[in-house]
Amino acid sequence: MKRSGFATRLGAIAASVGSAVGLGNIWRFPYEAGENGGGAFILVYVLCVLLLGIPVMLSEFVIGRSTHKSMMGALDQLTGGSKIKWFTLVCITGAVITLSFYSVVCGWVCEYLYLAMTGALSGRTMEEYRGIFTTFMASPWRCVGWTVLFLVVNFAVLLRGVQKGIERLSTLLMPLLFLLLVIFCVNSFTMPKCREGLNFMFAIDLSHFTWHGVIDALGQAFMSLSLGVACLITYSSYFSDKTSLTRDAGVIAFLDTLVALLAGVVIFPAVFSYGFQPEAGPKLVFQVLPAIFEQMSGGQIWCVLFFVLLLVASLTSTISLSEIPVSFLIEERKMSRTKATLWCALVVVVVASVCALSFNVLDHVKAFGMNIFDLLNYASANIFMLLGGLFTATFVGWIVDRKVVREQLSGDSRLSPLVRNFVVFCLRFVAPVAILLIFLYYVGLL
Ligand code: PFF
Repeated sequence: MKRSGFATRLGAIAASVGSAVGLGNIWRFPYEAGENGGGAFILVYVLCVLLLGIPVMLSEFVIGRSTHKSMMGALDQLTGGSKIKWFTLVCITGAVITLSFYSVVCGWVCEYLYLAMTGALSGRTMEEYRGIFTTFMASPWRCVGWTVLFLVVNFAVLLRGVQKGIERLSTLLMPLLFLLLVIFCVNSFTMPKCREGLNFMFAIDLSHFTWHGVIDALGQAFMSLSLGVACLITYSSYFSDKTSLTRDAGVIAFLDTLVALLAGVVIFPAVFSYGFQPEAGPKLVFQVLPAIFEQMSGGQIWCVLFFVLLLVASLTSTISLSEIPVSFLIEERKMSRTKATLWCALVVVVVASVCALSFNVLDHVKAFGMNIFDLLNYASANIFMLLGGLFTATFVGWIVDRKVVREQLSGDSRLSPLVRNFVVFCLRFVAPVAILLIFLYYVGLL
C-alpha cells in the first residue's frame, strides 16, 4: 500500500506551523512573559528557540524524513533493529497525556465561544467574570461535554487522512489565523495605553528576571515548537524528499515565534489600557480578556473573534498530537486508518474526560499536591517533552550515521557546512546538557 504524505510544500509547512501554533502561543506565552518581566523573558526565549528549538526540531525531521516512517519504524530502520525503538512508547504516552489535558482547555475555549456568541459575556462586572469561570469549572457535565465534542471534531478530521484531512484543514485555517491576528494587532495600536503595553512587552528589565525565567523560557520553547513527543517525526515522515529541512525548520520556528509575539502585542496594550495587571497568570485569557472586550466598542464581536482564533489554533495542534498514536497503530499494528483513529479516540476521550473532572467531581484526587489536570500538564511539558527532546538530540547527534544526517541537513546544497556543523554541535552538546540541567532542576535534584 502506498504511504500517504503531504501533497505540497505549502501544505507541509501549514500543517507543521498549525501544530506549533496553539494554546502555547496565545494562552501560555503572554502569561509566562507577563509573570517573568516581559522583554528579558522574550530575549531568552528567542535564544532558546535558536540554540535548542531549531536543532531539536531538525533532529526530529532527520529521523522522520530519512525513513518516511513513524517513530518506531524509523528507529528500527536507523539502528538496524535495536531495542532503542521502544523509546517510541514514551513519546506516544507523552502525546496522549498532552492531548488529554490540552483538549480540556480546548473545551473551555468552546464554552467561552458559546457564551460569547450568545451574549452571555456582555455587560458583566469583573466579579461576574470570575464567577462565570468558577461556575463553569464546577459543572462536570459542561466540562466533559465540551471536551468530548471538541475531540469528536478533532478525530473526524483525522479520519479523513493526511492530505484530505490534516493538510486541507491546515492550509485553510492557518491564513485565517494570521488574518485574525493582524486585525487584532491593528486594533491594539488604537488603544489609549498601547505604548505602555508594548514597553512592558519589549523593554528589557532584568530586575524581574530570575533563573526560573530561563527555565520557563526553555520549557515554553519546547511546548510551543511541538518538540519531544514525536510529533515532528511523524509530520516530517510525510515531507517530500525535495524540501530543505533547514529552511522549513527556520520558517516554522519564525512563524511560531511571530504568532507568540503578536499575541503579546494583542494582549498587553489592552491589559494596560483597561487597568489590569499583566501578571494575571493562566486566567488572563478566560477572566481578564472578556472583561477587556466588554469595555471596547463592538466588544462582543471582538470576543467571538478571539475565541474563534484560539479554537482554530488549538485544533490544528490537537490534530498533530492525535496523528502520533494513529500513525503508530496504522504502521506498527497494521490497522486501517478508521480503526486506528477510533481506538485512539476512545482512549483519549476516557483520559481527557477524567482530566476534565479535576476541578469538580475529582478535585479531591491529588498526587504530589496537584490535581489530575495539573499533574498531566506538568508531566507533559516538564517530563515527557524534555525526555523526548533529550532522546532525539542525542540519538541524531551521536548514533545516527553521520552521512544520513549530512544528506538530510544539506538537501539544500546552499546550506554552508558551517551551519550544518553548528546544528550538529548543538545536538551533541548544547541540547543534551541544557535539557539534562532543566530536567534535574524540575525533578528537584539541582
Ligand atoms: N505547540 C502546541 C502549542 O504551542 O500550543 C502544543 C503542542 C502541539 C505540543 C503538538 C506538542 C505537540 F506534539
